[in-house]
Amino acid sequence: MSRRARPAARTLRLAATGLCLVVLGGCARGCTSPRPPIHLNPNMDDQPRLTAQQASGFFYDGAAMRPPIEGTVALGDPVEIGPLETGRAGDAPDAPFVAAIPPEASAAFDVPLAVRGEERYGIYCTPCHGDRGDGQGTLRQRSGVASADLRLERLHAAPDGQLFDTITHGLGLMAGYAAQIPVADRWAIVAHVRELQAASPPVPEAAAVPAGEGATGGEGAPAGDAGPPGQGIAEGTAGAAAQPGLPDDPGGTEGPGAASPPDPLGAEPPPSDDGAARR
Ligand code: HEC
Repeated sequence: MSRRARPAARTLRLAATGLCLVVLGGCARGCTSPRPPIHLNPNMDDQPRLTAQQASGFFYDGAAMRPPIEGTVALGDPVEIGPLETGRAGDAPDAPFVAAIPPEASAAFDVPLAVRGEERYGIYCTPCHGDRGDGQGTLRQRSGVASADLRLERLHAAPDGQLFDTITHGLGLMAGYAAQIPVADRWAIVAHVRELQAASPPVPEAAAVPAGEGATGGEGAPAGDAGPPGQGIAEGTAGAAAQPGLPDDPGGTEGPGAASPPDPLGAEPPPSDDGAARR
């Protein structure tokens, strides 16, 4: 078998050598090739890339170069910010707040500003401030920590720019929402807060539950629809949930809040150390 195989192997070897000579020898004498030279260990020396101004079928516009994303600011370029971004009437950090929502804010949406705002408010503010802005959101129901009542006389009177500033930078216990909520949406939320305020008479400061506290010493009975003060917190929220005027309660707490708890947290009476939340 090896005898018969030997001549065949020799022929093969000869043929291969011949071929190599033709290929290598041919090109060594100046034939050009569009292909890169033989490179036995490329080591990522050659990597696919696109050069400036080159066409590329990869992107929808056929260009390899991508435009900078909207809002990109070149290092060192002056950034133009005005009342729309700061809520203030001047450049100084303590300039007075603008009284009204800048008109550019509404230009960002197809729908009226307050409609957009209602939706955004529902996402970002309701958990703490409640559907109606009364500060009785889920946070209050579950932890006993009250958020500010947005219908306070003081906030009724506050300029739009101040509400915008509170959303942007936060205040006291409340964190700022600049990172989560774009500028125009913040103004939209301000528009919705104004609607909530218009739907209720201004709540006097004394009648409101102080932020971060349970209902204490509110015997002066708030006119209107705030939860009954001076009662236990669980009762207070149950009362609020049972109110006829309340829109559909997403928490599903119908009737007395503690009767059919969707989860154990809701049934537990909140801690009674009212001052704790102030820390
Ligand atoms: C995590 C809970 C939480 C969320 C979410 C939240 N807030 Fe607050 N907010 C608070 C608390 C608590 C206070 C009271 C702060 C204090 O007095 O220390 C407050 C205070 C305020 C005040 C009153 C500021 C003042 O001048 O007294 C406004 C206005 C306000 N929030 C608006 C909003 C808006 C609008 C949103 C939605 C973008 C929002 N908040 C989201 C908890 C929250």
